[in-house]
Amino acid sequence: MKLSTFATIFLAVISISTATAIPGKFFDRFFVIIFENTSFQTAIQNPYLASLITRNNSVLLNNYFAVSHPSEPNYVATLFGSTAGILDDNFYSVDGTNLVDLLEAKGISWKAYMQDYPGACFTNMTSTSGLYVRKHNPFIIMSDVSTDPARCAKIVNADDIDNDLAADGLPQFSYYVPNMNNDAHDTNTTFAMSWFSPWFEERLQNSKFTDGTLFLITFDEDDTKGDNHIFASLLGSPVKPGGPHTDMTNYTHYSILKTLEDNWGLDNLGRNDTTATAFTNFLQGF
Ligand SMILES: *[C@@H]1O[C@H](CO)[C@@H](O)[C@H](O)[C@H]1NC(C)=O
Ligand SMILES: *[C@@H]1O[C@H](CO)[C@@H](O)[C@H](O)[C@H]1NC(C)=O
Ligand SMILES: *[C@@H]1O[C@H](CO)[C@@H](O)[C@H](O)[C@H]1NC(C)=O
Ligand SMILES: *[C@@H]1O[C@H](CO)[C@@H](O)[C@H](O)[C@H]1NC(C)=O
Ligand SMILES: *[C@@H]1O[C@H](CO)[C@@H](O)[C@H](O)[C@H]1NC(C)=O
Ligand SMILES: *[C@@H]1O[C@H](CO)[C@@H](O)[C@H](O)[C@H]1NC(C)=O
Repeated sequence: MKLSTFATIFLAVISISTATAIPGKFFDRFFVIIFENTSFQTAIQNPYLASLITRNNSVLLNNYFAVSHPSEPNYVATLFGSTAGILDDNFYSVDGTNLVDLLEAKGISWKAYMQDYPGACFTNMTSTSGLYVRKHNPFIIMSDVSTDPARCAKIVNADDIDNDLAADGLPQFSYYVPNMNNDAHDTNTTFAMSWFSPWFEERLQNSKFTDGTLFLITFDEDDTKGDNHIFASLLGSPVKPGGPHTDMTNYTHYSILKTLEDNWGLDNLGRNDTTATAFTNFLQGF
């Protein structure tokens, strides 16, 4: 067999074996969870959030700012690279290229885990219980997701994550939104962390959750009384040893897009993502 033929077969085998996971420069999976309207100063006083940033594999992003008020433009910013002109929490459908397009162009799997989401491409403003709200689900707001059944099916009830973990199928990009109580919106950080801490700690014991995963724990916006400075902490094996680390660089929600673009060599959206700073200072890289 000629060497070039051998190389072709070899590469074909490699591409099959990596078809389910596109290796990243800094991490193979990214999991973000978003809590609600709490200032940095309030969040950091919560004992559980304070404990996260004392771990060796943690980075406190000390100067992370939300981009707007109220909730909806902040969630839209994380996927769309701009607020799309949204200034309130009303019903919007946003047209244009977004993070889902960038990820799918590279074959990177994704899912939106929404607590109390009724499923079946539910587009209404709120579930009957009121616990799920559209304004916190930027995926359903993107018209090229909501009108595409295959994409829409990747917005799931958050409980599905345990089936995905059992099947070793945690997507490469997971976006987790707790319900209106567990995200502190209708409660407070004490209540939210009393849900989150046991939930997260149990799953941190599962390598199907943690292997190559960078976690971002953050909020959508502050309590509207300050300068929109919010708590944001990275956690996981992609973080450099020798921590806990504190990163003083200024970041915004647009930094999420820039970090994912840099990690997987994605295209960009040509919006605020292009000038944002990636939060890779304390990631070890492969
Ligand atoms: C964290 O790092 C310190 C210093 O490098 C080390 O002494 C300690 O054992 C580490 N803790 C854990 C839980 O790995
Ligand atoms: C969505 O809202 C409309 C109008 O309020 C209502 O008639 C419909 O039953 C809702 N759909 C679901 C699936 O809840
Ligand atoms: C979050 O905002 C909502 C609506 O503005 C408000 O009802 C709620 O009290 C706020 N929660 C916190 C924790 O500030
Ligand atoms: C948070 O809310 C709980 C009720 O869910 C209440 O008991 C507690 O005092 C509140 N804590 C703070 C710091 O406001
Ligand atoms: C960081 O952001 C703050 C608040 O927006 C701003 O005042 C400060 O000038 C920024 N610092 C740098 C180095 O850009
Ligand atoms: C985002 O981009 C728009 C124009 O595309 C600009 O008006 C806005 O100021 C930018 N916002 C941030 C926070 O960079």
